[in-house]
Amino acid sequence: MGLTVAEKCIQNSIVYGDMTKRGSRIGIHAHQTLGHDLNAIMTFLALNQLGIDHVKTELSVQYMDHNMIQADYKNADDHRFLQEMTAKYGVVCARPGSGICHQLHLEHFGIPGKTLIGGDSHTPCQGGLGMFAVGVGGFDAAMAMAGEPLYIKMPYIINIHLTGHLPAKVSAKNVILEVLRRIDVKGGVGKVLEYSGPGVKTLNVAERSTITNMGAETGATTSIFPSDENTKAWMRAYHREEDWIPLSADEDAHYDEVMEINLNELEPLIALPSSPGKVVPVREVAGRKIDQVMLGSCTNTALNDMKSIANIMEGHTISDSVDAALYPSTRTVIAESIKRGYFNSIVDSGVRIFEPMCGGCNGCGFAPQTKGVSIRTTPRNFPGRSGTKDDQVYLAAPETAAVSAITGEITDPRDVDIPEFSYELPDSFIEPSNLFYTPHYVDEVHYGPNLKPIPKFGKHDSVESGEVLLKLPDNITTDHICPAGALYLPIRSNIPEISKHSFMTIDLTFPDRAKAAEGGVLVAGENYGQGSSREQAAIIPRFLGIKAILAKDFARLHLANLVNWGVVPLTFKSDDDYQAIDQGDTLTVKLDEMQAGQDVTVINETKGATFTVSSPLSTEDIETVKWGGRLNQMRNRSDS
Ligand code: F3S
Repeated sequence: MGLTVAEKCIQNSIVYGDMTKRGSRIGIHAHQTLGHDLNAIMTFLALNQLGIDHVKTELSVQYMDHNMIQADYKNADDHRFLQEMTAKYGVVCARPGSGICHQLHLEHFGIPGKTLIGGDSHTPCQGGLGMFAVGVGGFDAAMAMAGEPLYIKMPYIINIHLTGHLPAKVSAKNVILEVLRRIDVKGGVGKVLEYSGPGVKTLNVAERSTITNMGAETGATTSIFPSDENTKAWMRAYHREEDWIPLSADEDAHYDEVMEINLNELEPLIALPSSPGKVVPVREVAGRKIDQVMLGSCTNTALNDMKSIANIMEGHTISDSVDAALYPSTRTVIAESIKRGYFNSIVDSGVRIFEPMCGGCNGCGFAPQTKGVSIRTTPRNFPGRSGTKDDQVYLAAPETAAVSAITGEITDPRDVDIPEFSYELPDSFIEPSNLFYTPHYVDEVHYGPNLKPIPKFGKHDSVESGEVLLKLPDNITTDHICPAGALYLPIRSNIPEISKHSFMTIDLTFPDRAKAAEGGVLVAGENYGQGSSREQAAIIPRFLGIKAILAKDFARLHLANLVNWGVVPLTFKSDDDYQAIDQGDTLTVKLDEMQAGQDVTVINETKGATFTVSSPLSTEDIETVKWGGRLNQMRNRSDS
């Protein structure tokens, strides 16, 4: 039988398991890795413990894009640490502010058919180039850099079959919003979203990567497009045509499901506060007043987005009631936009211009006012992510956001006279030697005072008991567990400090109660840990003494992080069991019963009830968790 695009990529990197068995454990090898400044601190701390002297990949790149605010020494120290580590291990290092990792990687490094393992949840952005790109936590990124396989469940392959072409004023962001409207934030779990059909050739690489990037919001393992003439044109524009290969599914390839999208029928869509899955047509919420507009992010500031925004802003002024900002994605996008006059139109309109970085997307520089309504072109709008606790963030395409900035209310771009535009590729780019460099390093890595070592955790007992310190609803995000925002990003490399703010938007007393209880358990609903790849969201509960988390289910990336850091994940078998537990109950969990596919007994000591939960883990992962995490397990191996 023929292969899908995803299967061809997996075949090119599989080192363990059988890819014909969906859902089974497979190991894949990374041709490339990427990391960014927030997650890579843990990556390099872990790499230091793995005893290698040079990365084992074809290419590893470190970006400086997530937090560029240097209000004091903390962030600057982190950057110096990362720069010195890249020099030590042979990692390509981007100069701070060169661009947002995913867009910069698309411009200079992504290669069709290869596998990229990236320490960021939006790594699937490279699927727009036909790359098999999987987001992981910092520890798994370190393992990939050390040449170890990444173990995942062999995904089910969903074919999203595109026909037609996008109507005027309906850009690519609306394709992924339509996918989210249909399958929500869990619909992609355990799956690859693979695009095919005649509609594919109507989309350029920037548009495709907008779609694959935000595919992360469905929970998918990754998303991928074929590699075709449009892919070749993109790579030629960056003088990388020799890296291009054609890649498409075989005629007799088998897909596990098929979703049809007729691009002609799409209309402008918008995700309501505060989930990327709450998608409705823009017309249904048109007229709502807004306070802020954020243009940009890894999803939506390629050159064609800049052209579209400039066309809308040309000759207009943004509304007096709106504060609007633009984050261009890379230095090349800035240079090309200036050359073509796009920048002038945007600057003239009153839009604030930031440097190429994540910035406002993760609450690092453009937070809305209290209860502020913000339309953003970012991929994610979890509560408080903007930096403002009670924000009201909508997600939309650049056209909707830009038009709304002018009118001061949510506006369907089809209701406004906007000139149509055609797609353009850059005809020059900033030389890679000016974007990437080898930092100065002389046999010593500087650890600033804010950078604390990875905490050490012990093995689990065969039976663990503890109080339910929090009973949580569905869709708890990594932002809930480990907050985003300018106040908190600089202390992510300091687990004792950041842990004081865990779950602050839910219960300010949690960190103190957890410390006082000297351990306990968490109970949660569906999709626990959705969102980013930050492994601090797994380390912090462990640091605060959390031994086990009982949830209805877990987000894929976070589940892997829990295993790596030795937090026991268990899943409820029935909603009644979840309902019967109250915060404050004491649970005893028989961890010695934990085996793949077997039940684990839980006793609710407070209520005098017994029930069973199951383990979502493989035999190998259960072993790791019992060791109290991957580092413990590896230390033990090297000791023995
Ligand atoms: Fe950065 Fe936001 Fe994308 S934090 S990588 S711009 S989702």
